[in-house]
Amino acid sequence: MAAQTAVEVKVRRLTDKDWPLLERMYATFTPLAGAKGLPPPGSTERSAWLNKLAEGINLVAFVEDRLAGHLVLLPVGNAAELTCFVHQGYRRRGLATSLTQTAVEEARAAGFRRVFVFIDTHNVGARRGLLKFGFRPVWEDLEEGEYVYRLG
Ligand SMILES: CC(C)(COP(=O)(O)OP(=O)(O)OC[C@H]1O[C@@H](n2cnc3c(N)ncnc32)[C@H](O)[C@@H]1OP(=O)(O)O)[C@@H](O)C(=O)NCCC(=O)NCCS
Repeated sequence: MAAQTAVEVKVRRLTDKDWPLLERMYATFTPLAGAKGLPPPGSTERSAWLNKLAEGINLVAFVEDRLAGHLVLLPVGNAAELTCFVHQGYRRRGLATSLTQTAVEEARAAGFRRVFVFIDTHNVGARRGLLKFGFRPVWEDLEEGEYVYRLG
C-alpha cells in the first residue's frame, strides 16, 4: 500500500459558517448508517440529528480547506458522550486522534469527569483507535461496548 503523505490537520470549534461544509461532508459520507445506525441515511433525519448534536460541543477537523472530520461531546450528567466521524477520503491520517485530543481538553476545561463512547464491537477500527488513545472498556459483548476516558 502506498504511504500516506503527512497532512496538516486543523481542529477547532464548529461555527455557524461551517454548517454547509458539515452538511456536505455527511451528504457524501460512507458508510451511512454504519456506526450504530449513524449518520442517518436520509437527509431529513440527518438534518434533525445534526440539529440535536448542535446542543453539544462540536469540533471539526479541516485538511486544507476541506471539512473532513466532526466530533461531538454531549453532556450526560458529569460525563460527556463522544461521537466522531471522519470522511472516508481522510481516514488513517490522525484526524480522529486530533479531534479526540482536543475534545479531551475541552471536556476537562468544562469540568466533566469522564468521556464515554458506545460503539459496535465489530467496528474494529474505532475500537482499536479508542484503546490506542487511552479509552478503556467499561463493558463489551458480541454486539457493542462502552469505552471510557477518565479525566481526573
Ligand atoms: C473510526 C474513525 C472515526 C477513525 O477515524 P480516523 O481519522 O481514520 O482515525 P485515526 O487516523 O486517528 O486513527 C487512530 C488509530 O485508530 C486505529 N484505526 C483507525 N481506523 C482503523 C481501521 N480501519 N483499521 C484498523 N485500525 C484503525 C489505528 O490504531 C489508528 O492508528 P494508526 O493509523 O497509527 O494505526 C473513522 O474510521 C470513521 O469515521 N468511521 C465511521 C464512523 C465510526 O465508526 N465512528 C466511531 C463511532 S463514534
